[in-house]
Formats: sequence, structure tokens, C-alpha cells
Amino acid sequence: MVRPKPTACSQPRVSELVAQLLVWFAGNARDLPWRRTRNPYAVWVSEIMLQQTQVKTVIPYWNRWQQALPTIADVAGAEPAKIHKLWEGLGYYTRVRNLQKAAQLIVAQHGGVFPENFTEMLALPGIGRYTAGAICSIAFNQPTPILDGNVIRVLTRVFGIAENPKEKTTNERLWRLAGELVTEAQKQKLLRLKRQKNWPPGGGKNFCSWLNQSLMELGALVCTPRQPQCLVCPLHTQCAAFRTGRTQSLPNLPKRQASVARHFLALVVGQDGKYLVRQRPTGQVNAHLWEFPNVETTGKPADPRAQFQARFGGAPVELAPLLQVKHAITNYRMTLEAFLVTAGKIPAPAGTVWKTPSQMQALAFTSAHRKVLRALIARIKGV
Ligand code: ADE
Repeated sequence: MVRPKPTACSQPRVSELVAQLLVWFAGNARDLPWRRTRNPYAVWVSEIMLQQTQVKTVIPYWNRWQQALPTIADVAGAEPAKIHKLWEGLGYYTRVRNLQKAAQLIVAQHGGVFPENFTEMLALPGIGRYTAGAICSIAFNQPTPILDGNVIRVLTRVFGIAENPKEKTTNERLWRLAGELVTEAQKQKLLRLKRQKNWPPGGGKNFCSWLNQSLMELGALVCTPRQPQCLVCPLHTQCAAFRTGRTQSLPNLPKRQASVARHFLALVVGQDGKYLVRQRPTGQVNAHLWEFPNVETTGKPADPRAQFQARFGGAPVELAPLLQVKHAITNYRMTLEAFLVTAGKIPAPAGTVWKTPSQMQALAFTSAHRKVLRALIARIKGV
């Protein structure tokens, strides 16, 4: 005789999970601006902005971008300075350069119309398996899976997957599970859902889109890295991690590398109401963005007078601390010490130009140097 497996060990049923996720999403989806459209271009921009950036940060950027560049052709033809300014502060600027390269390819190869086909999307710069899956499902309701950090967390917990989700076979298993869920969503067209004021839009015609977004949304709002809200989770009765007390240990991600401290010294050199700035060269982090002249001083004494003399010649007329900025990115903890320097008559060294504060405000600065610019303007105004 075959005995039924004890409940605590039984695998969650995909069809139940999908129905629960769809019902939950219908009642809990946040009203985000990119959810009011199925325009693939608008969805694409949102997905690129949302990589490594939080929803609340992205909302104003996405709105400004759509206003300034309403079509793919607008992106393709925009000046690099314009797209960098619209992205200023979001970081990871390769994303915006790839977005423009992809827009130019869409204009050249697809008549300016965003392709509907997964493989054609994957061929575009900056669009990988996750992004193509997200656009195909959200904009075109195709049953293409998505797997990002949020989805990994939900799936490893629900299915009790204790292996490292970044490791190849486990990662492929997670992609397969994500695929089973979204394929099942396509079959649930008859499921009736209560919605308030037609939100989220689309009803049963959008179940692949909703299913994928429900996984992202559950990971962002309920199945959070620390202190997940299991008691309000629509999946908790089926969730292996909840039933076996393992929400804290799943997902089993490799330990992050300890971050490295780095120190920089910036000189805000002024002469006749103008200041020296430079554009970061291609191939470097934050390429194309603007900054004040600076040098890395990690492990060396940061002597601003000596630096000024070495780089600009002569002694500064006045030199005073302006601001200290602390900034963390990926594996680095950066500290930038900025000094305000009044110079005598000096020529702009190669690669630097003189700009007034209002000219500088129209340029895209790196996040740390934008803070320095703000402090400079406040100092000039005497606030
Ligand atoms: N994270 C990634 N894509 C998202 C989306 N479309 N909505 C909300 N959060 C997301």
C-alpha cells in the first residue's frame, strides 16, 4: 500500500500556487506608473531602471524619461548628454548607453517597433533572459519566466530549495519552476478575480503578466529578506520554509565579499565665478559623467595643498574644507573629501574646463560630485 506523504514534506502544487498568487496580486498590486501601460517601450525602460534600483527611486525617473523621450525613435536620436542627465543619480550608466544602442537597433532593424519575439529581444544590448522574459510577459502576456533576486527568494522558500541558487543546476531548476508557474497562469483564464476599480488592468487576458509581477511584488512586499510577513502571505500554507522554520536560512546565498574602503580628494577650484570640471572618459566607471578634479588617496596622506601645487602649479590663494561625502557602491565604501580652492590666474589643465554653477547644473554629475556641487552652490549663496 502506498502511504500519503506527511503534509510537512509534500511539494506545493503549482496550480494552487498560481491561483493564490493571481488572487493576491489582483487585491494587492501597487499602482505603479508602468503598470498602467502595456507599451513594450515603457515596460522596457521600467525594467532597465529597476535593475539594482528600488521602485520608489525609479518612479520619478521613469515619469521624467517618458515625458522627455516618449518614443523609441526619440531615444535613438537623443544626445548622449540628454540621456545621461535623465539617468543622473540612478547609477550603473552602462544601462542607459545600452538602452540607446538598443533603441538605435530597433529603429534600424525593426522600423522603430519593439520586437515581440523573445529571441529578437535577447539580441538587443542590455536585454538578458530576465529582462526579455519580463517584457514578453508584461507587455505581450507571453508565458516567459523571470528570475531575479525577489523571485529567487520566493521560490527557494516556497519549494524549500536549500542549495545555492546561483549555482548552475539549482539556478536552472529555479528557471524551470518559474516557467511552470507562468505556463500554468496561461491555463487559468477562467479564474474569476475580484478587482477594485479595474485595478490592476487587463483581467484574465493578462495572467502571464500578473503572475510574473505577483512574484516580484510578493518578494518586494511580503517575502522580504529579513522579517518576511509570512502570516499575510498568500502562499504560507504551502511554503516549505514557513512550515519548517527556515525562512531565515533561505535562500542560501553565498556570503558577500567584505567591502573595501577607498578615499578620494576633490579640489573645487574657482576663478572669476567659474569652476574646473571634467568629464569621465569612456571605459571607466561612471563614463561620460562630470566631476570635479580628484585623486584617489587610499593609503596615502591626503594633503590638499600639496595636491593643488602638484596638479595646478603655484600655491592656492585660499583653501578650505567644503564637504565630506560617504558613498557605497557594489564592493566599495567611498569617502570623498572636497576642498574649495580659490586659485590665482591658472589655465585649465588638459581635460578640464571652466563652468559657472548654472552651467554645471545642466550637466550629469556622478552622485558624489553632485553633492559637492550642491554644497558649493549653498556656500556661494551663503546658506
Ligand atoms: N522589479 C522589477 N521589475 C518590476 C516591476 N515591473 N514592478 C515592480 N518591481 C519590479
